[in-house]
Amino acid sequence: MEIARVAVLGAGLMGHGIAQVAAQIARSEVYLTDVRQEFLDRGVKMIDDSLGRFVKKGELTENDRAEVKKRIHATLSLKEAVREADLVIEAAPEEAQLKCQLLSGVDKATPQRTVIASNTSSISITMLAAATKRPERFCGMHFFNPPQLMKLVEIVRGVKTSDETVQTIKMFAEKMGKETVVVKKDAPGFIVNRILIPALNEAIFLVQEGVAEPADIDKAIKLGLNWPMGPLALLDYIGLDTTLSITNVLSGETGDPKYRPSPLLRQMVRAGLLGRKTGKGFYDWTEKK
Ligand code: CAA
Repeated sequence: MEIARVAVLGAGLMGHGIAQVAAQIARSEVYLTDVRQEFLDRGVKMIDDSLGRFVKKGELTENDRAEVKKRIHATLSLKEAVREADLVIEAAPEEAQLKCQLLSGVDKATPQRTVIASNTSSISITMLAAATKRPERFCGMHFFNPPQLMKLVEIVRGVKTSDETVQTIKMFAEKMGKETVVVKKDAPGFIVNRILIPALNEAIFLVQEGVAEPADIDKAIKLGLNWPMGPLALLDYIGLDTTLSITNVLSGETGDPKYRPSPLLRQMVRAGLLGRKTGKGFYDWTEKK
């Protein structure tokens, strides 16, 4: 199935990047929507800033930058965004109820042929699919932050996802310049977060127990494991709230105590220390800016 028109729901950290890659690399017409004008404006600005980085490096011209921006249509109207979409990619906050409500509305407003994908990092694809009347044309399409640079997309099957839907998403992800892996079973955390989130949570336990300073924990993992960022810097980058949501899904869905979120993570989220997006997390990003 040819994907010419894409709707991206949510202009936040992931949504803006997904919209950009769909317009920049796959050259699709992209409808980007969010619930408030300020969220849309911020998303469009992040896209422009990111395109500016490619221009600075000589990978895009100013003309390319303008052409990509022309292919991105920001709108507050969900109906307008999804009305004629070939593919809808949901990138709303990691809250199951919110996503289900949104997806149920999208299902009613889009043609039956449209494939709906969710960028959820952990919520059950089968549950999200059940909020629509087209579970066979629904699947997980999990990007990594920043979507402009990270090569991987996890394609996650729900119980009823058809082979044709997996194939459509795989082809479109490749058109976006991504490598794909298929997650055959809808298991909490899929592949990457099943491994990453417990590791990040464990780094927070090290801080909580006073085993080492945050900077030394990050230095140890950067130099000892060759990670591009240490786990605490990565937590600040992903957002502590998002990490807590994923940890809660892992622990709630499996009932396994090994996934329990560290009390320090919960406290930091309560205090609004969410990382880069609020200026402070394990590091002070206001100074770094
Ligand atoms: N758009 C375009 N270019 C960007 C960019 C963006 N949004 N962000 C960074 N860049 C470019 C910069 O311009 C710079 O380019 P040059 O080196 O060519 O000049 C380059 O990327 C490096 O950027 P910085 O120097 O600002 O920062 P950095 O060296 O720390 O790199 C990074 C940034 C690419 C994010 C790198 O640190 C990295 O790979 N970190 C790990 C990211 C990661 O693990 N992501 C997965 C998170 S898990 C997830 O997303 C799943 C989930 O469900 C939670």
